[in-house]
Amino acid sequence: MTHPTSNQQVVLARRPAGAPRVDDFAVIESALPPLQDGEVLIENLFISLDAGFRKWMDEGSGDHILPAMEIGQPVMGLTLGRVVDSRHPDFAAGQHLMARLAWERYSVTDATDFLVVVPDQYDCPLNWHLGILGDTGMSAYFGLTDVARPQPGETAVISAAGGAVGSIAGQIARIYGARAVGIASGPDKCRRLIEELGYDAAVDRNGEDVVGALAEACPDGIDVYLDSVSGPLLELVLGQINPRARIALCGAVATYNAGAPLPGPSNLFQLVTNQATMTGFMTHLMHERYPEARQQLLDWIEEGKLVNREHMLHGIESVPTAFCDLFAGRNFGKTIVALS
Ligand SMILES: NC(=O)c1ccc[n+]([C@@H]2O[C@H](COP(=O)([O-])OP(=O)(O)OC[C@H]3O[C@@H](n4cnc5c(N)ncnc54)[C@H](OP(=O)(O)O)[C@@H]3O)[C@@H](O)[C@H]2O)c1
Repeated sequence: MTHPTSNQQVVLARRPAGAPRVDDFAVIESALPPLQDGEVLIENLFISLDAGFRKWMDEGSGDHILPAMEIGQPVMGLTLGRVVDSRHPDFAAGQHLMARLAWERYSVTDATDFLVVVPDQYDCPLNWHLGILGDTGMSAYFGLTDVARPQPGETAVISAAGGAVGSIAGQIARIYGARAVGIASGPDKCRRLIEELGYDAAVDRNGEDVVGALAEACPDGIDVYLDSVSGPLLELVLGQINPRARIALCGAVATYNAGAPLPGPSNLFQLVTNQATMTGFMTHLMHERYPEARQQLLDWIEEGKLVNREHMLHGIESVPTAFCDLFAGRNFGKTIVALS
């Protein structure tokens, strides 16, 4: 088998200061090492852009999940690719794998990078496994089905409502009979939430009177909040919760660029007086239930109850732009770059 000998990689050119900028990254050509025993050569077909990876771009940010990324080294991320060659007993050429690897055209790995074989029982585009059938679709599903549990007639508020998790979550809330209210940036995106995703109302987080707009959009108060953002929006929502509200903590995009811990909400006492709960969840820990969730999401699509939206860019040069889009709120749906 002829192996490619050169690679294209997106490296960290400098550490982002605040929101990432395209020139924090550089696309370089590099040599692809020959395959050793125990290794797999993967041609990456799609790169998933996930806001949470911003955290490991800061100096000293390493933790039990990932080490801090180094300047000049490939940026870590989630990928979906095809095995070109394998000298590992568990993987064979032609298989499709998802992994936590790097933003690069080809990856050589010893299979310790969370390689997961893409299940082949689903009749859908391959890239859906990075979005609606991947961690973000699963977060929307488990965040609502297991954690927040919206009931008919309740009001469910979703932050980052047009993003990968939010674009699915608002629709699931409505399927469960709740009124779905999305928070997003800008009037155009808010209009799309209603027109394309079926949200009942939308609040522009950059608008002049966000407190008033949220109260107007939720005249009966807030029973469920799927929080992908944290920061000031969480405090604002807490101020309008109903008795026995359930807040599902999914992510904290507003904090990822902060560089230092932000002050917490000043009104947590709202949870006490309303006997409300605030529960964090990590979707990948529910991995054994992904088949159930994937089948349900696909059934809802088949029944016309759910639509899948993607913010798809093309070519490895687009990867930095796609990542920055997440923090500028330019994405609508799951952000993916197709490499081939
Ligand atoms: N718990 C888990 O297991 C799990 C799994 C996957 C993802 N997550 C988390 O889920 C969240 C959503 O991820 P995603 O992939 O679906 O991202 P996304 O929603 O596709 O993109 C991020 C969105 O966040 C909003 N945003 C960016 N900066 C913000 C700020 N400073 N304040 C408020 N909103 C801001 C933007 O929307 P607007 O500008 O329109 O508001 C943007 O579209 C992230 O926090 C991620 O880390 C958690």
